[in-house]
Amino acid sequence: MVKVAVLGAAGGIGQPLSLLLKLNPQVDELALFDVVNVPGVGADLSHINSDSKTESFLPADREDKTALAKALTGADVVIIPAGVPRKPGMTRDDLFNINASIVRGLAEGIAENCPKAFSLIISNPVNSTVPIVVETLKQKGVYDPKRVFGVTTLDIVRANTFIAQLYPEETKPTDFNVNVIGGHSGETIVPLYSVGKTADYYKKLSEEQQKALIKRVQFGGDEVVQAKNGAGSATLSMAYAGYRLAESILKAVKGESGIVECTFLNLDSGIKGAAEAKKLVNGLDYFSLPVELSKEGIHEVKYDILDKISTDEKALLKVAIEQLEKNVEKGVAFANK
Ligand code: NAI
Repeated sequence: MVKVAVLGAAGGIGQPLSLLLKLNPQVDELALFDVVNVPGVGADLSHINSDSKTESFLPADREDKTALAKALTGADVVIIPAGVPRKPGMTRDDLFNINASIVRGLAEGIAENCPKAFSLIISNPVNSTVPIVVETLKQKGVYDPKRVFGVTTLDIVRANTFIAQLYPEETKPTDFNVNVIGGHSGETIVPLYSVGKTADYYKKLSEEQQKALIKRVQFGGDEVVQAKNGAGSATLSMAYAGYRLAESILKAVKGESGIVECTFLNLDSGIKGAAEAKKLVNGLDYFSLPVELSKEGIHEVKYDILDKISTDEKALLKVAIEQLEKNVEKGVAFANK
C-alpha cells in the first residue's frame, strides 16, 4: 500500500498535482490537507474512478493539529506546495517571512506522524525552505538525509522546452533531459546545456543566444508571474514537474533501478558522493545535483557532472554558490532561532 499526502492540496499547484497523483495506479491512498477549501477538492477528486482512495483533511481552527496528523499518519510520500506564491515584482526570497513558518509547522507534523516518509518541498524559497525542513527533522531526532528532496524539477522541464523551441524543425522537448544544478531562484539556477544531448545544439547558438537561453531558464518563472498579472505563479507546469519527481521516487520504491533526477539536497549527509560534491561547490551544505534514486530515497549524488562543465558554466556556478550560501544560512538560522 502506498499513501501519498499533499499539504496545500487546495492551492493552485496542489489541485492539479493531486489530480495527477489520483491517476497514478501506484498510489493507493491520497491524503489531501489544506487550511481552506480542501473538502471540496477531495469530494471532486474522489469521483474519479481510479482505484486509489481519496480523503481530505481540514483543521477545525489554528490550534487543531489532528487533521494534519491524520493526513500524515502512514504516509510514504509527502509533497508540500503549501504557502503563498509570488506576485509581479516579487522575488522568491520575498516569500520567506510567510512560508518559512508554514513549512516548519508542516515539517514538525512529518516528524511526529510519518518520520520515514519521503518529503518533497515545493514551497518557495526552496533554497531556504529545504534547510528549514532538515533542521526541524534534526531537532526532532528523525532526520534521514536520503528522504528530503527540494523540488527543482520545473527548471529542468523549462530547460528542455526552451532549447527545443529554438530548434523546432530538428528537435522535440522530450528529446532532452537537461541537468539543472545549483538552487531554485534566479541566478542560483544553472542549466548545464554543454553536457549531454543538448551540447551540439547549444554550441551552434551565438554567444548572445546562449546567454538569452540561460537567462530564460533562470527567470522563466517571471514569464508566468507576469502573464498571470497578480494571480500567482506557475501552477500547472509546477504540478507536472512535482508529479514527475514523485513518480520517479515511486518507481524507485517499487524497485526500478537507474532512475536519475536533479534535486536540491543536503550534501552534509553521508550520502554516497555527497562529500565529493560538497568539496566541488565551495563547501556548501546544500545544492541541486543529479541523484540516483533507490528504495531508500537518494542513493548516490552524481557529482562527476561538475567535472564536465564548460568555463562559462563554471562562472555561472560561482555566482550561484555565493547567493545560495546566504539563502541556506537564512533557512538554518530561522529553524534554530
Ligand atoms: P496557492 O496560494 O494557490 O496555494 C497554496 C495553498 O497552500 C493554499 O491553498 C493555502 O490555503 C495553503 N496553505 C497555506 N498555509 C497552509 C498550511 N499551514 N498548511 C497547509 N496548507 C496551507 O499557491 P501555489 O501557486 O499553489 O504555490 C504554492 C507554493 O509553491 C508557493 O510558495 C510558490 O512560490 C511555490 N512554487 C514553487 C515552485 C518550485 O519550482 N519549487 C514553482 C512554483 C511555485
